[in-house]
Amino acid sequence: MTDHPTPAEVAGPKRLFIKTYGCQMNVYDSERMADVLRPLGYAPTDTADDADFVILNTCHIREKAAEKVYSELGKIRELRELRIARGGDRMTIAVAGCVAQAEGEEIMLRQPAVDLVVGPQAYHQLPELLARTARARGERIGADFAPNAKFDAMPTGRGGSGVTAFLTVQEGCDKFCTFCVVPYTRGAEWSRPVAAVLEEARSLADRGVREITLLGQNVNAYDGEGADGKRSTLARLAYALGEIPGIDRIRYTTSHPNDMGDDLIAAHGDLDALMPYLHLPVQAGSDRILRLMNRKHGRAKYFEVIDRLRAARPDLALAGDLIVGFPGETDKDFEDTMDLVRRVNYAACFSFMYSPRPGTPAATMAGQVPSEVMKARIQTLQALLTEQHIAFNETQAGRVLPVLFEKPGRFAGQAVGRSPYLQSVHVEGAAHLIGQIVPVHIVSGQQKSLTGRLLSERVAA
Ligand code: SAH
Ligand code: SF4
Ligand code: F3S
Repeated sequence: MTDHPTPAEVAGPKRLFIKTYGCQMNVYDSERMADVLRPLGYAPTDTADDADFVILNTCHIREKAAEKVYSELGKIRELRELRIARGGDRMTIAVAGCVAQAEGEEIMLRQPAVDLVVGPQAYHQLPELLARTARARGERIGADFAPNAKFDAMPTGRGGSGVTAFLTVQEGCDKFCTFCVVPYTRGAEWSRPVAAVLEEARSLADRGVREITLLGQNVNAYDGEGADGKRSTLARLAYALGEIPGIDRIRYTTSHPNDMGDDLIAAHGDLDALMPYLHLPVQAGSDRILRLMNRKHGRAKYFEVIDRLRAARPDLALAGDLIVGFPGETDKDFEDTMDLVRRVNYAACFSFMYSPRPGTPAATMAGQVPSEVMKARIQTLQALLTEQHIAFNETQAGRVLPVLFEKPGRFAGQAVGRSPYLQSVHVEGAAHLIGQIVPVHIVSGQQKSLTGRLLSERVAA
């Protein structure tokens, strides 16, 4: 890299505000952008008002997600004008993430206040881009795909705090589901080498992290290079991570049913650190719609994978994603989705109304479903899913679950932690236990969380 400003040239402290939209991979990327900018004197702030540098890390998955960015940019432009009118320093505005990748320069035409557009594979170039922007405003660079360059150039140490952390191990998608923008915004599937993942995980463990969630658009397609030069599966990576002192819990998301390998299914039975919760989206319950979606699996395959997972780990809690109103979806197809949900019995499941995305094959398919029909279907589906979430949480009452305490609760002395099944657990008198995994007696389950009691101070100490 050329013309890197030295930290002295850009002497801090400067305030950085990052607003994150979309999936967990964007949450991870936002943390990493903060890591890259820290040596330049940028410290995070939690409002845009007083920020020297504002980054919107955007999502393009549905129309609403992309439109939100423009209304937010309008507000930030006003803040900047206000600040300049008060005699303050200029504020630099950047758009990162999947809208940046998908729309590129278009963003600046629609909102000229934007100084910088940076695609998801170019965050390591932020210092250089910032320096160039300062000289010639309005440049856009670095939206081409080269994830290895991105990861190689980022600091290995991780900033931040907390006992849980995300760790991206895989990026991109080769599946090309006909409704989805991800293969276009994140590029082809690519896995980080095992050694790089282990190094970052050790740095997190040193910082006090006890639970790691491995991220990837298709995380179970992970095939990173191992130290022996051979490819490693996600299962092998998970076993290696489980050896790191301090890392007691491992999760991964999001997975594709076709990439659920035998060794990964077996690991759910063998590896204690692997938590019994899995996000395995199916998208639809009708074989006809799954074909139109180009999912390359039918409902039978999905049930088969789940049966094998539950055989390996009987208490596995399942989560998923579903789309209603995909082009051509009939009442019968929708009924197939309802039937699939009843058979799977989800602990947690997200559902979305189909949103046509420019450039994707489904956007121009015949039989686009009217929005009233979609709305009615999603209400029916969400009522069933809510029933299942509540039922799942209620069945935890009376059990004793190991809870990793994460943060203080709303009331004095209270702490909030996570169950193995990713439920939030509220416990009184547990504030001193943050960072520890402690057995908790679950008293009741509500729609969004569980309430628990410490077994005894002796156990908790
Ligand atoms: N890689 C993951 C998730 C990708 S996006 C996977 O394959 O499961 C997250 C979710 O957004 C998807 O699972 C899907 O349910 C939803 N989604 C993607 N494109 C969509 C669209 N055009 N309209 C509505 N929902 C969509
Ligand atoms: Fe999108 Fe399908 Fe890839 Fe998931 S598997 S990211 S839904 S194209
Ligand atoms: Fe959105 Fe990009 Fe994630 S489109 S869901 S932020 S991969």
